[in-house]
Amino acid sequence: MGDNALPNRSFKEQRFWDEFLVARDGLPFEWYAQWSDLFPLLERHCGLNPQLSPLPAVLIPGCGNSELSSAMYDHGFTNITNIDFSRSVIMEMMRRNIRDRPMMFWKVMDMTEMQFSNDSFDFILDKGALDAVLGQADEDSASGKRFLSEVRFLFLSISFFFLFSRVTVLLDRSKEC
Ligand SMILES: C[S@@+](CC[C@H](N)C(=O)[O-])C[C@H]1O[C@@H](n2cnc3c(N)ncnc32)[C@H](O)[C@@H]1O
Repeated sequence: MGDNALPNRSFKEQRFWDEFLVARDGLPFEWYAQWSDLFPLLERHCGLNPQLSPLPAVLIPGCGNSELSSAMYDHGFTNITNIDFSRSVIMEMMRRNIRDRPMMFWKVMDMTEMQFSNDSFDFILDKGALDAVLGQADEDSASGKRFLSEVRFLFLSISFFFLFSRVTVLLDRSKEC
């Protein structure tokens, strides 16, 4: 997708993501990094390793059709909840994973209005999701703020919020949250 992968206004629209998946004909699209790139970082800096630590409950907001959660599951992190507001994405991901990864959860949910209690997760792994709700740097970041306040609500139980993002404007705007 090249430079079009930079966050833009369409990223906030559900229709854009429905059409994105259709245009890719179900082929996964991995934003920014693969699980094999991320795991060494999480293990080194946070001591996360399913072989060594109790199995954490993981939330992946804006999961898209990435293979991140299936790779994590196969690595031993089997308690994963994936959410996305695109019904077609979630249906496709359920279909793809239901047989080999039966314990993984998939939910159609808006990440700016999550419906979880604040003791639901041990860590959140956001790869490109905040970027999607923020959209362009110069527009109102109300959705981004709503998402971050949802994350803050979940902070009662979570130990880590991993954020993989290309949006730098947030760093300034988050001071306003
Ligand atoms: C940039 S993609 C990242 C996909 C995936 N996390 C990855 O790493 O490849 C953003 C995803 O967030 C989803 N998304 C955007 N706004 C959302 C919202 N308000 N609630 C839930 N999902 C949303 C889109 O449908 C899309 O699948």
